[in-house]
This record gives sequence, C-alpha cells and structure tokens, in this order.
Amino acid sequence: MIEVKNLWHIYEGRKIALKDVSLTIENEILALVGPNGSGKTTLAKHLNGLLKPTKGDVIVDGINTKEASVAELSRIVGYVFQNPEHMFFEENVFKEVAFGPKNLGLSKDEIEKRVEWALRSVNLKGYEDRSPYSLSGGEKQRLAIACMLAMNPKYLILDEPTTGLDAKSAESVKEVIRKLKEKGHGIMLITHDMELVLELAERVVLLYEGIKVFDGTINEFFQLDLRNYDLDKPELLKISERLSVGFVRNINEFVTSLLRRMRA
Ligand SMILES: Nc1ncnc2c1ncn2[C@@H]1O[C@H](COP(=O)(O)OP(=O)(O)O)[C@@H](O)[C@H]1O
Ligand SMILES: [Mg+2]
Repeated sequence: MIEVKNLWHIYEGRKIALKDVSLTIENEILALVGPNGSGKTTLAKHLNGLLKPTKGDVIVDGINTKEASVAELSRIVGYVFQNPEHMFFEENVFKEVAFGPKNLGLSKDEIEKRVEWALRSVNLKGYEDRSPYSLSGGEKQRLAIACMLAMNPKYLILDEPTTGLDAKSAESVKEVIRKLKEKGHGIMLITHDMELVLELAERVVLLYEGIKVFDGTINEFFQLDLRNYDLDKPELLKISERLSVGFVRNINEFVTSLLRRMRA
C-alpha cells in the first residue's frame, strides 16, 4: 500500500502545489484527475521520491520516501512521465528496455528474460532493433511502459498516457493498462481525459488547486457536477442520462441497458 499523509508541497518561488493531501493506493486502478495545474504531476513525483514532502509523509509499502533513494523506490513504484519520448537515449529498443535491469546488476540471462517479457506485455515484440526515435507516438508510450515493467515494480504511475495519441494508439495503450491491472499491479492513472477514466478506473481522486476535493468510486465521481472543476462528463454518460439508462462504462453496456429498458 502507498499512503500519502497530510502532504504539502511548496515549490521554490512559494507556489503551493499540494495542500494537505491524504490518500492510499492499493491494487486497483485509481484515476488521479483534475484540470491543468491542479497538482497531479507534483503528487505523482512524491510517490517514487522524485520530490520530498515540504510537510507530511509518503509511505511506500512501509518505507518513508524521506528515508529512501529514488533508485530504491523505483523498484517498487514505476513512473512513466508525461511525454516519455524525451527520456529515450539508447540506440535501439532492446537496449532502452535493458537499461534499468542492467543497473540493478542482474545477470545477462535475467535481463534478456525481463526485456522479452516487458516487450511482449506491451505488444512490441519484434521491435528490438528499432531506434526508439523511429517509433510512433503510441509505440513510444508503450516502450516507456515496457522500460518501467522491466524493473518489475508493484505500483505503476502513468502520467497522461493517452494524451496526444490518435484513437488507435490510445486504444493499444488502454489494452496494456487493462492487462497490467489483471496481473495485480496497483495503477495510478493520471489524466484529464474523462472518457479514459470512465473506461478504466475503479476509484477516482480529484485534485483542484492542490486540494483533494473528492475521493470515491467511479460511479460517485460522475455524480459530481464536474463543470465546477473545469472538467466535463463523457458524451456517453450525458446521453445515457438523457435516456435514463443509468450508469454505463462503455458502448456495450449502454446498448445492453437501453435494450433492457425498451423491452421492459
Ligand atoms: N518546478 C516547479 N516550480 C514551480 N512551480 C511549479 C513547478 N512544477 C509545477 N509547478 C506549479 O505547481 C502547480 C501544479 O503543477 P503540476 O503538478 O504540474 O499540475 P498538473 O500535473 O495537474 O497539471 C502549477 O501551478 C505549476 O505551475
Ligand atoms: Mg501534469
């Protein structure tokens, strides 16, 4: 479990980015949402120790991030940055994914196994010799996820994983996220894309101006008036409300509900 306890973060220049935020993360898909500038990335960087609390504590499986190095924490908490393409530096995909495990001092055999497994998990088998820079946006995002998976972390933090991707690439990234959830990883999905939240999340934490204003189930979340937080409901939910078919997560559920209602 990751526990965030009364966390404050004040940047130099006195920008207060997080105000007394508390939450826990277990084996679930937790969506961290909020408009631009609400503190999502700041919170994420606390979970693997990239930032340290101005006040309060972050405890990762019993380890206080104040007392642990980023290297130590990143074995437990993997973090895929917003715009990961700026982070690639190896000449090919294999070396890029192998970089982390190599640094852990693993054997050549173990490294190869991990790279193979990570690339398979994100459907990038066969890309080993490609240059990371030759990949499409969606492939780069999946490569970044593979780099993190090769470290075998228990928790995964994905910062805006589908932002800027076309529909097909976004779909393949979502596929990967679903698969990881099934494998029992705790996943924090950071996004302002409400369609993505509706499709994937189980729990939602809403940040607004650095304050946690909501923490609850996906169903409860979409009962909020999201316009108050500069967010908007997915079209699918607006339509389902107009037709009184209740809360649905995707088109299939919508159609099933609608047909049931028409037959009743
Ligand atoms: N390195 C920094 N120095 C000063 N202010 C920062 C820094 N990084 C972020 N901020 C500010 O902190 C607030 C929260 O930013 P951020 O966590 O990136 O929000 P989000 O990810 O929700 O868009 C914003 O007002 C942002 O301008
Ligand atoms: Mg951000």
